Amino acid sequence: MGGVRGARGATLSPWGLLLLPLLLRNAMHGLVSSAPAPASPEVPFGAGQFWHITDLHLDPTYHITINRTQVCASSKGVNASSPGLFGDFMCDSPYKLILSALKFMKDSGQQASFMIWTGDSPPHVPAKELSTKVVIDIIGNMTSTIRSFFPELQVFPALGNHDYWPQDQLPASVSEVYSAAADFWKPWLTDEAVSTLRKGGFYTQIVQPSISGPLLRIISLNTVLYYGPNKVTLNMTDPANQLEWLEEVLEMALQNKEKVYVIAHVPVGYLPYARNTTAIREYYNERLIEIFRRYSSIIAGQFFGHTHRDSIMILLDKKGNPINSLFVAPAVTPVKSLWEVDSNNPGVRLYQYDPLSYSVLDLWQFYLNLTEANMKNASDWKLEYVMTKAYGIEDLKPESLHGMVKQLIAPHSKLFPKYYNNYFVSYDGNKFCEEHCRISQLCAIQYLDLPSYTDCIGNEDTLHYE
Ligand SMILES: *[C@@H]1O[C@H](CO)[C@@H](O)[C@H](O)[C@H]1NC(C)=O
Ligand SMILES: *[C@@H]1O[C@H](CO)[C@@H](O)[C@H](O)[C@H]1NC(C)=O
Ligand SMILES: *[C@@H]1O[C@H](CO)[C@@H](O)[C@H](O)[C@H]1NC(C)=O
Ligand SMILES: *[C@@H]1O[C@H](CO)[C@@H](O)[C@H](O)[C@H]1NC(C)=O
Ligand SMILES: *[C@@H]1O[C@H](CO)[C@@H](O)[C@H](O)[C@H]1NC(C)=O
Ligand SMILES: *[C@@H]1O[C@H](CO)[C@@H](O)[C@H](O)[C@H]1NC(C)=O
Ligand SMILES: *[C@@H]1O[C@H](CO)[C@@H](O)[C@H](O)[C@H]1NC(C)=O
Ligand SMILES: [Zn+2]
Ligand SMILES: [Zn+2]
Repeated sequence: MGGVRGARGATLSPWGLLLLPLLLRNAMHGLVSSAPAPASPEVPFGAGQFWHITDLHLDPTYHITINRTQVCASSKGVNASSPGLFGDFMCDSPYKLILSALKFMKDSGQQASFMIWTGDSPPHVPAKELSTKVVIDIIGNMTSTIRSFFPELQVFPALGNHDYWPQDQLPASVSEVYSAAADFWKPWLTDEAVSTLRKGGFYTQIVQPSISGPLLRIISLNTVLYYGPNKVTLNMTDPANQLEWLEEVLEMALQNKEKVYVIAHVPVGYLPYARNTTAIREYYNERLIEIFRRYSSIIAGQFFGHTHRDSIMILLDKKGNPINSLFVAPAVTPVKSLWEVDSNNPGVRLYQYDPLSYSVLDLWQFYLNLTEANMKNASDWKLEYVMTKAYGIEDLKPESLHGMVKQLIAPHSKLFPKYYNNYFVSYDGNKFCEEHCRISQLCAIQYLDLPSYTDCIGNEDTLHYE
């Protein structure tokens, strides 16, 4: 794995040289000085780490039975494809799959300062098979399950479109679900965060006080308020005054010289698998992009879920300079709908960051080969890729990601098929991405607002190479 060695290694990596002055500080702060498991690559010297899990989608009905239409409610009457102990590509997660993911994370020996959890706990089933009570029970179950593996770790959750009944209809004011989530998440959050969570499903919180250098602030947005299928927020200019609140928080963070990680379930920008389709409503997308551009100097990273796939986005300023790195992490659930050809293997992710600037340095994507796990009746979670190594970049700062994208765009790029394989978390399928598909992916990675995206799609000739 390159020449990168950790604190105990013999060679100094570029990270080692760069971050050497941090060693003492890290020792004082109890941050990671790398002591990785033998099979793992090594942590950039002196870096901090955090976990990201998303879209757990527990299906409590999952069980192995002869009649494959009966395996899980989330297959909605369709036959499960090849059901095993750890799940099926037509089904949401069996509890055992979720346990195996958390156990792997715990047993990996990786030290993380915190975890982000970007929502969607209940299964994909018709509304009549759920209720407010069932949805709350499942969010509570996932909360206790995570806490049972990581009793000491601080977790920052965000609400997903499935974390409500009926799904997607998250309201712009107090609700039973927001209140229940606030109660479940009290052990992780401050009183102030719990209070805004109760009112609108969002919050902000400082991660951990540090002795010197900037503070890191998490802003957990409720982007489901902006999600197309959410009928309760239709025509509202600023549901739950979240946009106004966001600007106030960012302005205060700027004054206080803090750094910010934005976390949310539904991402901003355009869907990589569709044309001309924003993940949230276009109006809110334009407003959020404008705010994120204005405060990009303090936003050190943005982290999302919801698409169930692995993708990146780069926010460019109006002159085309890269100013923000955005990451969409793949789901734990392997479910796909009948009309989809490909799905994703279950995934969990570990990020490395520079503890002085909170810039994202790297990410390790782990996955479970579901087919293999079911064949062997054993869950052997593995490293899928290390982003800097897979794409030959220095770190995950906006400029570096921009360099990576230039390589993805290049005619006959060898990196693009790799990116597209990772997009499906190494799912074994026919993952050929022809021109239309490729252009959708490439425009969505780089262009997050309407004018620039439209321009990209309109000038697709510049991306053609055949
Ligand atoms: C499987 O279950 C479905 C739904 O209950 C039922 O309609 C079907 O007859 C069953 N098939 C067999 C072979 O028992
Ligand atoms: C499920 O598979 C069984 C056995 O192959 C088949 O008879 C049945 O029609 C299938 N059901 C559905 C809903 O596809
Ligand atoms: C969570 O749900 C699973 C599956 O239904 C169940 O086995 C487990 O006991 C529940 N755990 C908690 C803490 O509620
Ligand atoms: C939203 O606005 C449209 C167009 O002005 C109107 O037709 C629709 O009834 C409004 N919907 C709601 C829920 O207010
Ligand atoms: C997407 O938008 C572009 C520019 O407005 C338009 O030319 C194109 O036809 C649209 N494509 C689809 C599939 O809607
Ligand atoms: C997953 O496991 C299956 C069955 O062993 C194997 O055919 C496939 O190549 C594996 N996929 C990856 C990405 O390793
Ligand atoms: C896996 O478990 C299933 C039932 O739980 C059993 O039928 C199968 O033989 C087992 N396979 C292996 C390889 O142990
Ligand atoms: Zn989901
Ligand atoms: Zn979702």
